[in-house]
Amino acid sequence: MKFFVDTANLKEINEARSLGILDGVTTNPSLISKESLSSQKEIQDHYMSICSLLRNEEDVSAEVISTNYRDMIKEGEKLSFIHPRIVVKIPMTQDGIKAIKYLSNKKIKTNCTLVFSTGQAILAAKVGSNYVSPFIGRVDDVSYDGLDLIREIKNIYNNYHFRTKILGASIRHSLHIIECSKIGIYAVTSPMKVIYSLLNHPLTNIGLEKFLTDYKNKMN
Ligand code: G3P
Repeated sequence: MKFFVDTANLKEINEARSLGILDGVTTNPSLISKESLSSQKEIQDHYMSICSLLRNEEDVSAEVISTNYRDMIKEGEKLSFIHPRIVVKIPMTQDGIKAIKYLSNKKIKTNCTLVFSTGQAILAAKVGSNYVSPFIGRVDDVSYDGLDLIREIKNIYNNYHFRTKILGASIRHSLHIIECSKIGIYAVTSPMKVIYSLLNHPLTNIGLEKFLTDYKNKMN
């Protein structure tokens, strides 16, 4: 399973790189707003800096802030011109679906975001979105099971051999990542703190301490 980091922060992207787990980056307008960028030019340059940290097949999702079809496709094309690694992230709305269809016909990569139901995921696949981003944590927040949504989308996509890649988003804890890997989706996009939490196990700490104590006791 691919590991994307859900951040617009260059330091965090570098951390993911140095940990050796980076497969891609996703951003959204809230994450961009945390980076104290004050103009369109600065935002474009920032996407450029993210792209320069990526390698091989890795890509970065950059989200449009327009909400109507005409502006979405204009903004999407502009984002795609910044760098070939840019994937245009488009919200799941009627205008958004039309924009994904338009951009995918023009061979511009897309990621359909704010997906909370199987019906929405079917539409994203029908119009040829490269990625679909179901928001697991936010589904859990409203007392449904975000992982069930992932299972259902995976089944439906298998039934019809849809090529849209499932990118599990809104990852809140390590179990989300583990369960997504059991279901077998293409990727998760996660904050670094959740990726770090995969490292932790109390028996690892206890075991390491014992190994080192035994070794020191013998050698002294
Ligand atoms: O990029 C979208 C998504 O991952 C948001 O996550 O934690 O704000 O629900 P969260």
